[in-house]
Amino acid sequence: MKILVTGGLGYIGSHTCVELLENGNDVVVLDNLSNSKIEVKDNIYAITGKMIQFYQGDMLDKDVIEDIFKQHKIDAVIHFAGLKAVGESVKEPLLYYRNNLDSTLNLLEVMRKYDCKNLVFSSSATVYGNQESPRYVETMERKTPSSPYGKTKAMIEDILEDIYASDPAWKIFILRYFNPIGAHEKGLIGEDPNGIPNNLMPYILKVASNELECLTIFGRDYDTPDGTCIRDYIHVVDLAKAHVKALEKSFAVSPNVYTYNLGSGKGVSVSEIVTTFERVNGVKLNYQYGPRRSGDLPKMFADATKAFAELNWKAEKTIEDMCRDAWNFKLGQK
Ligand code: WQD
Repeated sequence: MKILVTGGLGYIGSHTCVELLENGNDVVVLDNLSNSKIEVKDNIYAITGKMIQFYQGDMLDKDVIEDIFKQHKIDAVIHFAGLKAVGESVKEPLLYYRNNLDSTLNLLEVMRKYDCKNLVFSSSATVYGNQESPRYVETMERKTPSSPYGKTKAMIEDILEDIYASDPAWKIFILRYFNPIGAHEKGLIGEDPNGIPNNLMPYILKVASNELECLTIFGRDYDTPDGTCIRDYIHVVDLAKAHVKALEKSFAVSPNVYTYNLGSGKGVSVSEIVTTFERVNGVKLNYQYGPRRSGDLPKMFADATKAFAELNWKAEKTIEDMCRDAWNFKLGQK
């Protein structure tokens, strides 16, 4: 199949391109390189021995998307492209609403025009908002996400539901990621965000490599076994494999909207991540405990049963694998 991957040179997108290529697909990537590097294209080749077809461009320009559909018969789209820094979205809500919503609307209009109605959408567990139970299930009524970033994901989920309701020819897979970390074992692709990271693992990597002085663990007084927040961390390669499973499923099922949690189903604390990282990599991390970060929930993790039952997928890599592979990628950076 020929698959368009928007944001395909990004962290999760690039790992998904590797799995798509290794499963025999032709891959076309559209990326504006706002949070990724052109070298990732060559690194995907170095891993797979296969080339993607790459287009640099911004999805806010609808013609950029249409030009790809004019040149290629696209069988399905995996849509990763979007701004995703929670903190930045609070400071720049207009930027996030404009970018994430308009780029998606442009994509959907072009897909409809070219009768390509098979979409896998990169959503996030943040769309659940603050639920009674920390174990998130797809059947839960979504509550208000804690950031404009999360709200754009929830709005796009609503847009996709409405599109299917208006035209039941669409097959839409909504994948809600929990906390993706780690990197491909070959150490050639991984998470390498610009600037000061918001997320835990990229921050740990910069402290471990002495690019940043000290990790602050946000809060030690939560109602959890060690007082630090609990999250559901998932290896990015497991996450990428789930996208291939969803794509394969999309060609086999009848039109509808299918929503899946992509998590391990296990909760792990910040402190456990820090101590595991130190242990498996033989490094000492400089860290301190600080105040809670606003917007953080004490505990959340996936009910991962639906993805296993319907996609025949489950997370297989361990926290140790995630910490080891993340550090291996960092060590390979110039
Ligand atoms: C994890 C834990 C922090 C940094 C966010 C988005 C979510 C998804 C994943 C895109 C929390 C703690 C962090 C630090 C810390 N992104 N932490 N010190 O907030 O669970 O989820 O990223 O889809 O949508 O909301 O991930 O990595 O920022 O934080 O103590 O320097 O690590 O308090 O408990 P989060 P995170």
